[in-house]
Amino acid sequence: MKVSELFDVSGYGVIVTGGASGIGLGYVEALAENGARVTLLDRDAGRVSEETGRLQAAGLDVQGRVVDVTDHPALDAAFDESAARYGRLDVVFANAGIDSGPGFLGRWFGTDRGRPAEGALENYTDERWNRTIEINLNGVFATVRAAARHMKPRRSGRIIVTTSVAAIRVEPAVGAAYMAAKAACHHLVHNVAMELAMHNITVNAIAPGLFVTNIGGGHLKNPELQKVFAQAVPMQRVGFPDDIHGLALFLASPASGYVTGQQIAIDGGYVLGSAD
Ligand SMILES: NC(=O)c1ccc[n+]([C@@H]2O[C@H](COP(=O)([O-])OP(=O)(O)OC[C@H]3O[C@@H](n4cnc5c(N)ncnc54)[C@H](O)[C@@H]3O)[C@@H](O)[C@H]2O)c1
Repeated sequence: MKVSELFDVSGYGVIVTGGASGIGLGYVEALAENGARVTLLDRDAGRVSEETGRLQAAGLDVQGRVVDVTDHPALDAAFDESAARYGRLDVVFANAGIDSGPGFLGRWFGTDRGRPAEGALENYTDERWNRTIEINLNGVFATVRAAARHMKPRRSGRIIVTTSVAAIRVEPAVGAAYMAAKAACHHLVHNVAMELAMHNITVNAIAPGLFVTNIGGGHLKNPELQKVFAQAVPMQRVGFPDDIHGLALFLASPASGYVTGQQIAIDGGYVLGSAD
């Protein structure tokens, strides 16, 4: 067998949460362009219809559904619908996530706004904490659970969670709830990978570094800011959703069949520290 055949995902049934933008949209494109049938679930109705229409017009087998991952019954129903349409569910990306607002430091790659009062622990609101955990952790739990319900009876599947380099190192400008949620997702991946291993289901995490997406209002779309952020990255550039395609295809395909419980950072060396 040619090694390239190990990356064949044609005919696969795939679900991506938060698939209408950024990194999730990168997963959708990577899989659909390689012959998979993909359903993107996202709470942003405008983007769901815009991106689904664009990809369908390009001839790709992509469906979109407006679903909020905090609504677990709606999430379960969307999984049931997609699995029924495809007659199989091979790959699930648990990716939907939000920025949690200011952390305790305002200093963030060259900008220094001092320490923002709302990021300080004593002022951190329950509302902000709970909302971040509800989406970035509980939403991942509900997505992984729904995936397992469909994959276990078939004794096959790939679950891929988008964590963050924030699961490895503290990003003090990003905020406590985000750090806690991403680190928890990382260890959740360990637990679920171990549980599902005997069912031939692999569970891994992708930990992106600094990527240009719509997160946090899309602040990193500013080219000047990209240059500043790039100074913290040994490869001297920020990441773009296209950078995620190869890793997504690897973890979704037979090529990674004996890899489970791993978190792979995709960050141009950012977690290693800053170079020159
Ligand atoms: N951009 C980065 O630098 C970076 C770095 C590390 C990790 N991440 C993670 O990558 C994932 C994707 O983020 P992104 O940067 O592509 O951001 P993005 O804002 O471009 O895309 C996130 C998508 O998720 C959707 N979403 C948010 N909350 C949702 C909910 N409750 N239910 C359903 N959909 C929801 C949004 O509508 C959006 O379409 C997140 O988990 C994020 O934490 C991003």
